[in-house]
Amino acid sequence: MGGSEAFVVTPSASRLSAQERASALVDPGFGKIFTDHMVTLRWSEGSGWHDARVRAREPFMMDPASAVLHYGQEIFEGLKAYRRPDGSITLFRPEENARRFNRSAMRMAMPELPETLFIESVEWLLKLDGDWVPEGEGSLYLRPFMFANEVFLGVRPASHYVFCVIASPAGPYFQQGAKALTLWVSDRYSRAASGGTGAAKCGGNYAGSLIAQMQAAARGCDQVVFLDAAERRWVEELGGMNIFFVMEDGEIITPPLGTILPGITRDSIIELARSEGYAVREARYSIEDWEADAVSGRLRESFVCGTAATVVAVGEVRRLSGSFEIASKAPGPVTQSLQTRLLDIQRGRAPDPLHWCRTLGKIAGL
Ligand code: PLP
Ligand code: COI
Repeated sequence: MGGSEAFVVTPSASRLSAQERASALVDPGFGKIFTDHMVTLRWSEGSGWHDARVRAREPFMMDPASAVLHYGQEIFEGLKAYRRPDGSITLFRPEENARRFNRSAMRMAMPELPETLFIESVEWLLKLDGDWVPEGEGSLYLRPFMFANEVFLGVRPASHYVFCVIASPAGPYFQQGAKALTLWVSDRYSRAASGGTGAAKCGGNYAGSLIAQMQAAARGCDQVVFLDAAERRWVEELGGMNIFFVMEDGEIITPPLGTILPGITRDSIIELARSEGYAVREARYSIEDWEADAVSGRLRESFVCGTAATVVAVGEVRRLSGSFEIASKAPGPVTQSLQTRLLDIQRGRAPDPLHWCRTLGKIAGL
């Protein structure tokens, strides 16, 4: 299947009233409340993608022997819809999410979803739940995901899958509204290793990161930062964000792709920074250099970025052997200007020279 005519649309009979929705949107937090609808498609060996539906959000009925519950064949994406000043709704680089979704699918031996179907699914959900895209600084976080639901306990790629998109209005990811994060360096746990699944957006990567995140929280830190698994030396990324280092000579360093998630925000920041004349290097940077450069002043700023988190400064780094501060713990000028540049493009407050924003397309038949 491929065309929008294949989606069967059944609007929910119990959508929230405008008033209920407005009160849900006052302080939505992150990932706590959900819109009225969801999109689902199914895949089976032999018939491929079929049964595309736009319908009321409801729980899944799952057999206890469904493959995902045992061997974790699950991948997901995260992208945001923004309300522009003229009232229209925009998606930021959704084609990149569709492509990354398929790279994750390939790594996890799951079926690929045609990019057009990925984007149409997201657009269908927005078509029905567009009123949930907040005005002002909020956004609607869209979560496409796919899981194996074959009823079989053998260890092999499943022959049945479900693709689904849900949506959740989002305020700031960091509740406390931190201006600069405190990070905990995990000396004990790795997130990914060469040949592993670090570059895929699969649920298992996040399950494996939670114990380190718990330790970070126990040390009073906001997030954990992972080092490479082989030498425990090279800074990789956070559990859900990529990381950048701004040097005194204006050079910006970010860890190279390989075992990290190829963030779409990361890629956009690299392009924006280069277009503003910064030299951006994708290169390994060690925890020892990070500390020494922060102490000497050679490192001026660090920031992390991701769809959920946007762009946030790093103010302090703690590890078992001690801690160090970055630039008096205040967000620096490069972090702030890249953050503003990106947010202004995403929200339609500034020109979009690279055509990253996709204003909600017209779906046939509506
Ligand atoms: N790294 C990890 C592990 C993530 O989960 C995310 C979030 O999706 C990112 C980085 C940032 O990726 P993006 O900018 O595409 O949201
Ligand atoms: C995102 O930024 O979209 C993510 O998936 C990260 C997660 C921590 C919410």
